[in-house]
Amino acid sequence: MEHLLDRRLVLVTGKGGVGKSTVSAALALVAARAGKRAVVCEIEGPSAVAPLLGATGHGHAPRPIGEGVELAVLTAEEGLRSYLADRIRLPGIVDLVFKQPAVSKFFRAAPAFAEMGILYSISKLLDEKDARGRPAWDHVIVDLPASGHAVGMLEAPFIGKRIFLAGPVRHLCESMERMLLDHDLATCAVVTLPEELPVNEALELAAKLRDRGLRVEAVLANAVESEPLEPEEHALVEKLRALEHRPLLEGVAVAARRAARGRAILGRLTKGLRKAPVPISFRLERGRELVKAIAQELETAATPAGNRL
Ligand SMILES: Nc1ncnc2c1ncn2[C@@H]1O[C@H](COP(=O)(O)OP(=O)(O)OP(=O)(O)O)[C@@H](O)[C@H]1O
Ligand SMILES: [Mg+2]
Repeated sequence: MEHLLDRRLVLVTGKGGVGKSTVSAALALVAARAGKRAVVCEIEGPSAVAPLLGATGHGHAPRPIGEGVELAVLTAEEGLRSYLADRIRLPGIVDLVFKQPAVSKFFRAAPAFAEMGILYSISKLLDEKDARGRPAWDHVIVDLPASGHAVGMLEAPFIGKRIFLAGPVRHLCESMERMLLDHDLATCAVVTLPEELPVNEALELAAKLRDRGLRVEAVLANAVESEPLEPEEHALVEKLRALEHRPLLEGVAVAARRAARGRAILGRLTKGLRKAPVPISFRLERGRELVKAIAQELETAATPAGNRL
């Protein structure tokens, strides 16, 4: 299995609250630690990623948020504005146009327009060059909104193409479609929790994205509970039993049941995907420490000795 970070554009998606922002930040940290320039993109504010790394303040243009990671909070309006500015090459006029409330309202309400603004901003980051003419970003990691909205965004170019049969908007849709469907450039990472409903949703989401022609490199099963005891520690249970230490025995039994349930659900996920998910363990750390711990796990999983991501 290939490494998620073998692709420059990683689209992180999944149901609400499964850990998308945390995993996006961790993936960027893995890249930064490997000496790569990585930018995490969030869609509209407020940022969930900046506070994770202890940073405050963010904007549409990438800025450092610590640990070698940069963050850009993309907005549809900024994206459409830069698209028009690039086409018309008269930024003053674009600003004037966008000052009209009816115009911003139209762009926000028109189907696929807002999403195209975001996709355009992503494509600009991929095309951006540094002073030496090399790509400015080795990795653009997009922390997508929860499943339904993410699918809407990724489907926007297909929908746009049905509406605009010719002209510049159709051209834009086609070029955004090419970006999303380029399997050498872009891949999706679906994050889930090892629970019944999130796993069902992750399977549906992965299938939907693949049906659309997108590459789905990996499903990451986040917050997997570990086994309470190592195999060699099972003799301990017998000792506890002999001591009739009920509270501890019950604690071990509960933890073992939870781990077994998680294992069964992950088994179902593996069967559905026909490929093992990448597990990330349940952790007690929070914020920056949580991101670092997950980055460490993902790094280990990506070494040739471990499961490649
Ligand atoms: N491996 C983990 N172990 C324990 N807690 C975790 C783990 N990963 C994430 N969390 C916690 O889960 C919560 C949700 O994480 P996060 O904000 O990354 O999810 P999200 O999918 O981005 O949510 P949203 O859909 O609201 O954007 C956070 O409180 C985070 O600290
Ligand atoms: Mg989030």
